[in-house]
Amino acid sequence: MSQQFYKIQVSQVFKTTEDCSVITFDISKELEEKFSFIQGQYLTLKTMINGEEIRRSYSLCSSPIDKEWKVAVKKIDDGRFSTYVNDELKEGDVLEVMPPSGRFFQEVDVKAKRNYVAFAAGSGITPIHSIIKTHLNKEPNSTFTLFYLNRSVQSMILREEIEGLKNQFLGRFELYHFLTQEQRDAPLFNGGFTKEKLATIAEKLIEVNSIDDYFICGPTEMIFLIRDFLKANEVDEKKIHFELFNTPTGGAKKKKLDENNKDVSEVSIITNGVQVSFKMTQNGEKILDAALRNNADLPFACKGGVCCTCKAKLIEGEAPMEVNYALEKEEVEQGYILTCQAMPKSSKILVDFDS
Ligand code: FES
Repeated sequence: MSQQFYKIQVSQVFKTTEDCSVITFDISKELEEKFSFIQGQYLTLKTMINGEEIRRSYSLCSSPIDKEWKVAVKKIDDGRFSTYVNDELKEGDVLEVMPPSGRFFQEVDVKAKRNYVAFAAGSGITPIHSIIKTHLNKEPNSTFTLFYLNRSVQSMILREEIEGLKNQFLGRFELYHFLTQEQRDAPLFNGGFTKEKLATIAEKLIEVNSIDDYFICGPTEMIFLIRDFLKANEVDEKKIHFELFNTPTGGAKKKKLDENNKDVSEVSIITNGVQVSFKMTQNGEKILDAALRNNADLPFACKGGVCCTCKAKLIEGEAPMEVNYALEKEEVEQGYILTCQAMPKSSKILVDFDS
């Protein structure tokens, strides 16, 4: 069944840095099961800002073991939602929240003796904090090494929490800070990750091929740099987990519609057991956009092919995706599409959000 939004009260808003607020949600007893989550998953939030509906996804920075639902929202330039959260949102306000989703995780195994490594930059620490805390608490024989990149010590999100883990798990948690605006003695830790620095890390700090899982979260270029480095060093792709916060094209880029194409598709959409049908031109418009224009109530968040919230099964017809950063190869083979990226290419299209 496709996911729906629930009205959830905010029980706390506090600043973790000058421009980043942590929101805690008050999940009622009745909704606890629906909102149960796995470390590394995210929430999609929705609200009206100046008469416009805005939705954004944020990783849960709390761990499932805390039984707390917290997200950290960093204020970004021209970010309407993040500005609203940091400047206006307060305790007692209500936001619409979709239950947790996402696959940026490895299953916990209490008997496991694993070595994990994470690379995080800036607000990319939010899911990574949840992942580290959960594995170290639940797997007493596992270890974690974190390479954490920030502008300065002042700008570090969840600094106290991360330091707290370091003190709690002495000997099982290693933390290396990388700073771009503060100089330290060891050149390795000054500035962002580069191919050369990764080579040094692999030579001196970790044994690349004996690591069980890698988790990477930060800017797209950083993620791909590290992923490609690991792949080039023969790390199995299944061990490399990453979470994109933005689309590699920058998110806002929209392909121009092909005004000359007058071919029409008859599109039917099944959601929550109800079928909605409409016609749309095969001019490059995406199925999700056309469906929303036709008043269908469908789940979506990023609209950039990243989050997977708009996933549905193509039962009939042809609808290639412009980009896909979320679906696995097997899912595409099974007929799943990201409706925010799929464009109809046949006269009849049937999409099922319930399967
Ligand atoms: S809405 Fe995020 S992938 Fe489609």
